[in-house]
Amino acid sequence: MSQTPELVVKDLRVAVEGKEILKGLNLEVKKGEIHALMGPNGSGKSTFANTLMGHPRYQVTSGEILFKGESILELEADERSRAGLFMAFQYPVAIPGVTVANFLRSALNARLAPPDANGAGAMPQKRGIAPKEFRAMLREKMALLRMDESFATRYLNDGFSGGEKKRAEILQMAILKPEIAIMDETDSGLDIDALRIVSEGVNALAGPELGVLVITHYQRILNYIKPHFVHVMVDGRISVSGGPELALELETRGYDWVRDVREAEAL
Ligand SMILES: Nc1ncnc2c1ncn2[C@@H]1O[C@H](COP(=O)(O)OP(=O)(O)OP(=O)(O)O)[C@@H](O)[C@H]1O
Ligand SMILES: [Mg+2]
Repeated sequence: MSQTPELVVKDLRVAVEGKEILKGLNLEVKKGEIHALMGPNGSGKSTFANTLMGHPRYQVTSGEILFKGESILELEADERSRAGLFMAFQYPVAIPGVTVANFLRSALNARLAPPDANGAGAMPQKRGIAPKEFRAMLREKMALLRMDESFATRYLNDGFSGGEKKRAEILQMAILKPEIAIMDETDSGLDIDALRIVSEGVNALAGPELGVLVITHYQRILNYIKPHFVHVMVDGRISVSGGPELALELETRGYDWVRDVREAEAL
């Protein structure tokens, strides 16, 4: 059993273009745990996810992010990914000209390549996974997510429907095998079947070797992906944490009472 949480966020403060968005956020995620992060629009959930992945626009003004015991604040996004952090984006970008298969193979090779002395990735094509092995792996994971094999040869996210983009994100996660995965509204825009398939995919990947942080607005996805912990973010920090029952309570009571808790705290 892992004792120290793989991801430790301490009193994190983050500014975007000079405006403070995260205001002292604390969170710990261990491998094997599923956490749900909820909260009203604009409370800072995506800001937090982007900050975890090292998006350059998000400036950490104080606090700490530890991954496997070490600060990652100075690491670039690709270094964080190689270390075993993964993020499924709320709005995945299209990369015309790069097929799904090639993108995933490059991403996997980058993840597998040990950093060289300069901290940059080793030449991936020299050490990477063999093409045949990769194709077998891709086929297996695509079957798991019930994706048509023709997707492998399409350009990444180019003309993909909303649901297809989300599946492509989970496929990427299945291939990269991160230790901690952050999913920002992977459920938005999914129809009922796609929601189930994506959730089943996540469940198939979840287990003792993976910690998951699911950012969502809806209890619905949590019927499929059962969280151990639910947190509610209000105005840049987590105001209330609890078990799965907290998500149900939010569904019926909304967020106002959480704001009240927060205001009472401030007094
Ligand atoms: N790049 C940016 N430039 C300016 N403001 C930003 C930027 N990114 C985030 N913000 C602001 O930070 C606040 C928090 O936004 P964020 O996207 O983190 O909220 P959220 O909790 O993910 O909301 P939603 O539930 O709608 O996805 C918002 O007021 C937003 O306008
Ligand atoms: Mg968001």
